[in-house]
Amino acid sequence: MATAELAGKHLVLGMTGGIACYKIAELTRLLTKAGATVQVVMTEAATQFITPVTMQALSGRPVYTSQWDARMANNMAHIDLSREADAIVIAPASTDFLAKLAHGMADDLLSTLCVARDCPLLVVPAMNRQMWQNPATQRNVTQLREDGVQVLGPDSGPQACGEIGDGRMLEAAATYEAIASFFSPKILAGRRVLLTAGPTFEPLDPVRGITNRSSGKMGFALARAAQQAGAEVHLVAGPVALETPWGVFREDVQTAQQMHDAVMRSVADADIFIGVAAVADWRADHASEHKIKKTAERTLPTFTFVENPDILATVAKLPHPPFAVGFAAESGDLEVHGEEKRARKKVPLLIGNLGPLTFGLDDNEVILFAAGGATKLPRADKQTLARTLIAEIAKRLPDSSLIR
Ligand code: CTP
Repeated sequence: MATAELAGKHLVLGMTGGIACYKIAELTRLLTKAGATVQVVMTEAATQFITPVTMQALSGRPVYTSQWDARMANNMAHIDLSREADAIVIAPASTDFLAKLAHGMADDLLSTLCVARDCPLLVVPAMNRQMWQNPATQRNVTQLREDGVQVLGPDSGPQACGEIGDGRMLEAAATYEAIASFFSPKILAGRRVLLTAGPTFEPLDPVRGITNRSSGKMGFALARAAQQAGAEVHLVAGPVALETPWGVFREDVQTAQQMHDAVMRSVADADIFIGVAAVADWRADHASEHKIKKTAERTLPTFTFVENPDILATVAKLPHPPFAVGFAAESGDLEVHGEEKRARKKVPLLIGNLGPLTFGLDDNEVILFAAGGATKLPRADKQTLARTLIAEIAKRLPDSSLIR
């Protein structure tokens, strides 16, 4: 999960009334853990759902609920609280509060703070699906977007009222990521990134197959970092149990052939292709349609294997390839194999994992192989490393005017 963008940031976290207030306890914890200062301001309605005492304990700062709070000099809470802020985040943002914001109303501390602000405003809507779809709400949201307000979400799914549809607040972790994304430098703005991640699964019969130990963490971290850098991101994922990074379009596949086909369908639109997946090199020529049973004679099954398509090499060989980046997992001699693999796959950049193989771990250490030579990057957690790699890719891209 990204943290660097939020370290040292000063956020006003405005809470309005709604059952989603419970998510803000966790959001506050995530933001403060990332090094942000969180100044909570609550409307009267929000205090009906969660107490200021809870929010004070989690944020480590006094919570403000009233414009007439005597703790602020000259009753200037509505001005002073946002002066130092890098952003105001309204979460949850109720139907009523969105309407107030869209019309510039200022009849309590939080709405006054928003009108008097000198910093970006982010809103995280949370409401029943009918309230969200109501034409008045949709008009207000359009107005807010036109006014430069960032609208994060809402999500779709089961709601507290028992109905299912659009309007529920993003989960705390997704809200956190969306805020981190807002603060990330947009070094890939306007670029389209296509990635593969995770292992593939090559069936032998309906219950068995060949796969490998790739966790998908590095690929997902890169997808998240690319999205946060402003790119439109399409992630083709093998079988992994990971949450889709916020704002990323994900397509799930099982086999190398399906991964290849998914990539080929979308690659013409991509400016950058990053092959992070540990693609199986072979598959069984004929997977059994039925589960292979033990026989009375105990004869063991035999399989003939055929080669899978090399997705990265195929992309790199296209007449107008995107900027193609490969990964290499080696169990030894990385310096030799890395440059050899880069040349063989004809890619401008190949990222080699420095052994021992780091499947499933949160840290990684890599060497970059490029035409100009090899560079070792310091060991870092995968999300930090992903940001560094995205910066390395961004600085090697051809001029945007030359991009297809
Ligand atoms: N790759 C791919 N399609 C394949 C095999 C690999 O796109 N069928 C990509 C991987 O996503 C990675 C790079 O090629 O970006 C290198 O993968 P790796 O497994 O290290 O290399 P291989 O080409 O399989 O070579 P070897 O197994 O001999 O090391």
